[in-house]
Amino acid sequence: MQDLEGKVAVITGAGAGIGEGLAETFAAEGMKVVVSDIEGDKAEGVSARLRDQGAEAVAVQTDVTDRAAVEALAEHTLRHFGAVHLVCNNAGVCLGASAHESSDADWEWLFRVNVHGVIHGCQAFIPRLIEQGQGGHIVNTASIGGLLPAGPILGVYTATKAAVVGISESYANSIEPHGIGLSILCPAGVATDLIHAERNRPPELGQREGDLEDILGPMFDDGMSPRMLGQWVVRAVRDGRRFIFSHPEMREAVQGHFDQILADFDWAEKQSL
Ligand SMILES: NC(=O)c1ccc[n+]([C@@H]2O[C@H](COP(=O)([O-])OP(=O)(O)OC[C@H]3O[C@@H](n4cnc5c(N)ncnc54)[C@H](O)[C@@H]3O)[C@@H](O)[C@H]2O)c1
Repeated sequence: MQDLEGKVAVITGAGAGIGEGLAETFAAEGMKVVVSDIEGDKAEGVSARLRDQGAEAVAVQTDVTDRAAVEALAEHTLRHFGAVHLVCNNAGVCLGASAHESSDADWEWLFRVNVHGVIHGCQAFIPRLIEQGQGGHIVNTASIGGLLPAGPILGVYTATKAAVVGISESYANSIEPHGIGLSILCPAGVATDLIHAERNRPPELGQREGDLEDILGPMFDDGMSPRMLGQWVVRAVRDGRRFIFSHPEMREAVQGHFDQILADFDWAEKQSL
């Protein structure tokens, strides 16, 4: 998608952090922006600021775990702006614990938001993009952890993000013939409030004393700015990139991970001799 001016972007989890950075950048490109978040007041705050700066923006309170609410977000977008072109399934949450120390409720919460939230966005918007017949682009926010398991500290989180990578690759091939591109955003340390994600955990799933601040705090303090990441996303959408990495220096670690996988192919080849 080359021409962004006047086109319509929808971003989930846009009341703060990376989503807010995307909203600001898209507005600066002349796009009309739907700012969506479970925290409706924050979405409204971002949207009001964009309008003050001269952009066309609207806020919609949406919990991405609720399929009907995401459907309503798509309907609202079409009613308000008459079209949709760029959809960023970005809302996400995190908790700091190994897989075996995580409860059923931990798994459920993270999969509901990080995985089902992305599926809901794809299911609600892709048929409308196809029907509209103007092409478009999807950006699904995964993480570098989706390609590089982060060991014991972020067990459930990296599992959800690997799922986002797989789900996105599944959609990508089937929507390409409709002129719809798809990028997988894999950030690695962006200065946001993700370490306080527990604030949005549903009460029925209990609370957990997280130690995310200790684990990720320093990395986030020195992180890339969400606005700069937004500018990279704009360039990657225009260039039709499948993966968008915020930290190219992570290449070696990813290479090391895939080398381990290939080493097991070497082992398997020896077994069949
Ligand atoms: N910050 C990083 O370094 C980093 C690294 C890798 C991946 N990510 C991913 O980036 C995305 C954005 O996170 P962020 O870092 O900007 O964190 P953030 O906490 O600043 O922003 C996340 C936003 O999602 C919203 N949200 C939470 N639950 C929701 C729900 N059920 N429905 C709708 N909105 C909901 C929050 O209210 C918040 O505004 C997430 O998917 C996260 O996993 C971030």
